[in-house]
Amino acid sequence: MMIPKPLNHQTQDGVFTFASKVTVLLAYRADPGYAHFVAEELSQHIRVATGSFVTVKVGEPGEADGGAVVLTDHDVHDDLGDEGYGLTITPDQITLRAAHNAGLFYAGQSLTQLLNHQQGTQTPAASDNGRALLRELPCADIQDKPRFAWRGFMLDSARHFQPVELIIKLIDQISALKLNRFHWHLTDDQGWRLEVLGYPKLTSVGAWRSNGGGDGGNRGNRGRYGGYYTQEQIREVVAYAKQRQITIIPEIEMPGHNLAALAAYPELGCNGGPPEVTHQWGVLDGVFCAGQDQTFTFLQNVLNEVAELFPGPYLHLGGDERKQGLWDKCNACQGVRDKHGLADESALQKWFMDRVAGHVHTSINRRSIAWGDNIDAGGIPSQVVHGWLPEQSTKAARQGLDTINSTHEWVYLDYPETEKELAENKPDWMMTLPLAKVYQLDPIPQGLEPELHHHILGSEAHLWTEHAPTEADLNHQLWPRLLAFAEAVWSPIEHRDFDDFMNRVAVQQPCLCLG
Ligand code: ACM
Ligand code: ZN
Repeated sequence: MMIPKPLNHQTQDGVFTFASKVTVLLAYRADPGYAHFVAEELSQHIRVATGSFVTVKVGEPGEADGGAVVLTDHDVHDDLGDEGYGLTITPDQITLRAAHNAGLFYAGQSLTQLLNHQQGTQTPAASDNGRALLRELPCADIQDKPRFAWRGFMLDSARHFQPVELIIKLIDQISALKLNRFHWHLTDDQGWRLEVLGYPKLTSVGAWRSNGGGDGGNRGNRGRYGGYYTQEQIREVVAYAKQRQITIIPEIEMPGHNLAALAAYPELGCNGGPPEVTHQWGVLDGVFCAGQDQTFTFLQNVLNEVAELFPGPYLHLGGDERKQGLWDKCNACQGVRDKHGLADESALQKWFMDRVAGHVHTSINRRSIAWGDNIDAGGIPSQVVHGWLPEQSTKAARQGLDTINSTHEWVYLDYPETEKELAENKPDWMMTLPLAKVYQLDPIPQGLEPELHHHILGSEAHLWTEHAPTEADLNHQLWPRLLAFAEAVWSPIEHRDFDDFMNRVAVQQPCLCLG
């Protein structure tokens, strides 16, 4: 009864019985400190589910007493890859096997889901204040690993701001679903959400707007609306996510979607202004000037700080939806176009993104990601292309580039789930994204040549927040569709069965989403 569904899950005769005292034995030499972390989390879940007294000790697998829970890197099936694991439940012992930390963590998540689910099936015991305590788990052998290495969730914290406590809660939830990338959209026209010490006005000015905005019930309109994450908060979130096997990919948008940065530093724009942090949505005038060196100095300095805060291997540079025509009206931009023989604004954007990616790849030594909008102008070597419009990922793969396939019609969780909701309160350019459709997602684009499939790293579900100002709104958009997405990026397509999934949603949703 797990989500995502394991690759192989065989139920077997017999049950494991939790004694009143349970030992969690660590025989995981690969990284004992990490095994302690997984064991402590698991112990807590076992305590709550069973009422047993749980102790953690280090030893060899053979030293386990009957009734123990063993975490080990011995005897792991060798085809489980970096993130795979085994979970076996016999009458004597529960064994979590993994060669690497990610697998060990996922084994723990799977066992936690089994505990929660089985506890939910128990009848409350009169003896324990009416709480239902779990005594037994059915025997099983699970061998599991993901289909895709990139299983992402993107949250837009710019259009509406989420407090850091909510970010932590989301990280718990997505890691329980074995998602492993949190793409954080931190900057946009409506707010700059990341403290940058070298440019304090990005947050003192750029994090605030006069109005909550749009159709979000104008929840911010009694004063300024906004907020930002301090560097200390970012470090906490990054560390918390890392323990849970999540790499955070910060996105610093460029060249468009930058009214908030330009409100703080108007000299980085072309002409016009003074810009304001806006509460309107859409493709707006906030475009960095491509014709001045100070734009690139700014971006390089910001990205240097960002890279210090986010130690993961990727930096997302945005690159989508630059409003057209602004660069054509700017003398400085025209000058750069002429100097480099660039035919049009698209070529200038490619030159812009190339220049910033060059800094990321050679000076900061990270891999850049950009939205697929530039792919027709030709991809940037070693950049990951983040496809969001149809064909962008196909084109990227055919140019030999790695790509994340997040084609909007399958994974945009800001789209309403039903026709009724679309008709009632969503803009008419949106389409519905029903649960069953998310469940059918295949990140491999139709028609892509099999020898190019390895360029499809996976997919991300995206939650843009123009229309999700509150936690309740976010939850409404996320659940249960994120459960379907998690299974779509983890489980082989031929194993998927929507009816079976719906049965599992019924038992897992309360545990996974409301905790
Ligand atoms: C996007 O939805 N503009 C990436
Ligand atoms: Zn310009």
